[in-house]
Amino acid sequence: MDGRDLVRSVRMIKAVGPAQGLRSVRAAWRSRRADALALPRRVAERARVPGAARGAEPQPGGGVIHFARSSLRVRVAAGGAVFCGWDGAAPEPSYALAGACPEVDARVVLEPDTEGGWRVVSERVLVVVSRHGAVEVRTPGGAVLRRELPPRWWERGSADGTDDAAGAEGRAGRPEGGGAARWVQRAEVAADARFFGLGGRAHGPRLRDGVYRLWNTDPGGAFGPGDDPLSLTMPVQLVVADAGTHLVFHDNSWDGRVTLREGAEGAGSGHDRPGTCELRMDGGPLRYWVLAGTPARVLQGWTELTGAPALPPLWALGHQHARWGFAGQDEVRSVVAGYTERGLALSAVHLDIDHHDRHRVFTVDPERYPDLPGLARELRAEGVRLVSIVDPAVKAEPGDAVYEGGAAADAFVRDARGREVRGLAWPGESVYPDFTDARVRKWWGGLYAERLAQGFAGFWHDMNEPVSFAAFGERTLPRSARHALEGRGGDHREAHNVYGLAMARAGFDGLCELRPDERPFLFSRSGWVGMQRYGGTWSGDVATDWPGLRASLSLVLGLGLCGVPYSGPDIGGFTARPSPELYLRWFQLGAFLPLFRTHSALGAGRREPWEFGAEVLEHARTALGQRQRLLPYFETLGQLARLTGAPYVRPVWWSTPRDRALRDCEDAFLLGDALLVAPALAAGVTRRPVRLPRGRWYDTATGRAYDGPGQVWVEAPLSRIPVLARAGAVVPVAGSDGGTELEVWAPAAGRGGSGLVVPDAEDGWQRPTVERFTSRREGERVVVERRDGGAVGYPVRVRGLMDG
Ligand code: NOJ
Repeated sequence: MDGRDLVRSVRMIKAVGPAQGLRSVRAAWRSRRADALALPRRVAERARVPGAARGAEPQPGGGVIHFARSSLRVRVAAGGAVFCGWDGAAPEPSYALAGACPEVDARVVLEPDTEGGWRVVSERVLVVVSRHGAVEVRTPGGAVLRRELPPRWWERGSADGTDDAAGAEGRAGRPEGGGAARWVQRAEVAADARFFGLGGRAHGPRLRDGVYRLWNTDPGGAFGPGDDPLSLTMPVQLVVADAGTHLVFHDNSWDGRVTLREGAEGAGSGHDRPGTCELRMDGGPLRYWVLAGTPARVLQGWTELTGAPALPPLWALGHQHARWGFAGQDEVRSVVAGYTERGLALSAVHLDIDHHDRHRVFTVDPERYPDLPGLARELRAEGVRLVSIVDPAVKAEPGDAVYEGGAAADAFVRDARGREVRGLAWPGESVYPDFTDARVRKWWGGLYAERLAQGFAGFWHDMNEPVSFAAFGERTLPRSARHALEGRGGDHREAHNVYGLAMARAGFDGLCELRPDERPFLFSRSGWVGMQRYGGTWSGDVATDWPGLRASLSLVLGLGLCGVPYSGPDIGGFTARPSPELYLRWFQLGAFLPLFRTHSALGAGRREPWEFGAEVLEHARTALGQRQRLLPYFETLGQLARLTGAPYVRPVWWSTPRDRALRDCEDAFLLGDALLVAPALAAGVTRRPVRLPRGRWYDTATGRAYDGPGQVWVEAPLSRIPVLARAGAVVPVAGSDGGTELEVWAPAAGRGGSGLVVPDAEDGWQRPTVERFTSRREGERVVVERRDGGAVGYPVRVRGLMDG
């Protein structure tokens, strides 16, 4: 224990009381001891590089290039995604991939190049491998998107320091080519490139120079832009440069660090300094995928590879309210009544751990919630659903039904000596299901029957990094804890980052089985690549301050670019009572994000819109009204995310990634194609600069037209945040009678526009139909047509005509 640990222990004891505090000291010691006994000790390590190329072997979709001390497999999938695997690493098994590894593109050829290396030529990218193992990914036109230098591994040497491993072919025989060897790979990108992604990061969306850790971590208190890592890390980077956009995904769940450094242009001197990205992993396979193209094309390919985002049920697109600390069912009732009496829309109330019996998962406190199914029925009649928190930690106590069931099913993570690993969580001493075991997922999925019987309609997975409170060291399971890893066997070093993902799969599959006619609603604090297949996420415990508000937007944007479109923050921040202005600005932003949820910590005050005075209530009402009106548009965006991978919330450069000024714009976003939302992110803002993509944009509140590209100043009074509509856009909105109508923003003279409607009347699995519309300007008239030639079928409301 060092000085910092000591301070943390003392703080912990102060915060949670002496008994729990001392338990957390014990838990930390236990974890440290387990790792000291079971993890391999650091011994002399030898570095290895691939060495010189010796030959290549063509295979369908690419081939294998052999080096003196390694091999590289390059394989291009039918959709254009390129797989590179060193040391025999294959694409499978993988927690990230949606299903079977995609078919290869049989047209791809592997051929020698003039420099003594090899080229893999495909329709969308050219991969050039040098004779020492550097790998360049180029556009078909030859522009370099990424140059990977030869990787380097460190392997455990024998006692005398000599390498204990055979040559390349020996290593290539290992399953997946993975193991405990550390490795590093360094890449160069264009001097003008910008980095995005890496999962949910608070200080983005543009990732500045720095080190980003790949280890899902509960920050253990409120976080703000300076905190990293958070609950949801992903080795996924989207790199946007003039030469093109590409996504690179290192399919490896071990702990790692990404060091990013943006490049610099030599201002005409010709001496550009490239951007660099270095990935250091503590173990696991060196394998990665690269996808290149427009951002839309890249996200489409990403969805094909890692799975289509789950479609939230319609009600999950409405406003939802949560609080840690409802006194009981009467208080829930009175909060809902507060919304109803004031005519404020509400679609769900979330019950936190305080509704459980002594914080035990899959239980209900009988005193505070004597009739939860009755409450659920009553609220449902008013159109309000209940959502339940679900934590993975199970109280380790004989007699606890979940514990007994899990123990009988041998469901809990064990240590290297075969004993249940005990951690510390809200219910006290706890055990943790091993979700990397299909058998355990099945058992856990069945437990949601109890939740459904209580009347819950949706699920909020929390604390699944997973968290075990510890006064020092890491707040998670020991690294030596054993996991099934789908029968391959391994330890927490490999399983940690996929724990939340595998839990989401258990919940999702269980719900599909228990309630086959309804789409599950599930969102999860932690996760990994591919989690979108099961649901969304939220920002976690974001600090209640203006930087926290900014971080909220950064998280949603970054996650969308990693393939997780459905997310949102705790409106008002998690930790403290926000000022009325901060609450309102957060609420106004949240109204345009997919998950629109107010939430707060125990003791951090309420988040109902009427708690902040009459003025805030009226402005929050306006924002809620805007959200309600946009529900058909949100529905459409959800369907499009599922069909194409395009997130609801997109960076402003989405369609014009070559616009450098837009690439650096982080304080606004596109909601679908049609709207540009420019939130107020600082105190006292009443107008703000907005950077516009090219074309005409209308301020939807005033109708005033602005022409992009460029920066304009737009009014942002307390009553609203600027929302601009693209000229020509056809936007489905809810009319006053509740039916869908088309809001059409007048195209500029001689121009046209378009829009989609993907209606979804139910919460089941019906295949959607995509309705396409065009708009065009004919003099002072705007003509709207359905692309398939049929009748438009919706009332049309044209806006913006007066402005030229
Ligand atoms: C941590 C979660 O991030 C937060 O949203 C929740 O209220 C608390 N756990 C208590 O369950």
